[in-house]
Amino acid sequence: MRENGVLITLEGTEGSGKSTQVKHLSHYLADKGLSTLTTLEPGGTPLGMKLRRILLASKADEIAPLPELFLYLAERAQHVCEVIIPALSEGKIVISDRFLDATVAYQGYGRNLDLTLIEKLNELASQGIKPDLTILLDIEILSGMKRAKRGMKGDRLEEEGDFFHNQVREGYLKIAAFEPERVKVVNASDSMDNIRAAIRKHVDKLLIGRFY
Ligand SMILES: Nc1ncnc2c1ncn2[C@@H]1O[C@H](COP(=O)(O)OP(=O)(O)OP(=O)(O)O)[C@@H](O)[C@H]1O
Ligand SMILES: [Mg+2]
Repeated sequence: MRENGVLITLEGTEGSGKSTQVKHLSHYLADKGLSTLTTLEPGGTPLGMKLRRILLASKADEIAPLPELFLYLAERAQHVCEVIIPALSEGKIVISDRFLDATVAYQGYGRNLDLTLIEKLNELASQGIKPDLTILLDIEILSGMKRAKRGMKGDRLEEEGDFFHNQVREGYLKIAAFEPERVKVVNASDSMDNIRAAIRKHVDKLLIGRFY
């Protein structure tokens, strides 16, 4: 089903630099003549964009934790069958701005939903697909928030309290500690250039000999 494609995901709390680094990485690989596809969650499909609006624009108390989980999973299930599986089966390098780990970090560690349940539902929604490499951009919550808010009104998640966001950050770091081979932690408070170089090093390790 996966053929020769590779799935790389970028994770991290708000303002950690995911979108910035997804762009850098995609240019880096495209410059090598490789076929890449960048995508995001929530929002990688037309249905995903609709669900993204609901998830991020609703008021804090409008969606309870369990229905929130189901919305993210519905978005993922559509994203996997409409975008990720076809791209992987065409042998592309898929780079996704958030994926499975975000649900474990936010709905599991952040909202305290059962981690085993989330793992099972994640597996169902992703049809068993796991990233080959995950870059976790780790940054202090306050610094990330300052970056994310620059000139913009915060969305529903950004308006959550520090306690919630620290639980999410700790959750991400626990995921990385459980799966150190797959999940590489990069210090996201560093300069853009250093972060870019650190990510390239991890990606080169995965792809050299296979793609270039
Ligand atoms: N290493 C860095 N140093 C300073 N500023 C940065 C760095 N990386 C990104 N930024 C800036 O911080 C802001 C947030 O970055 P970006 O949008 O890439 O984060 P994000 O993780 O995608 O955020 P969100 O979770 O809100 O989608 C942007 O204005 C970006 O230019
Ligand atoms: Mg972003």
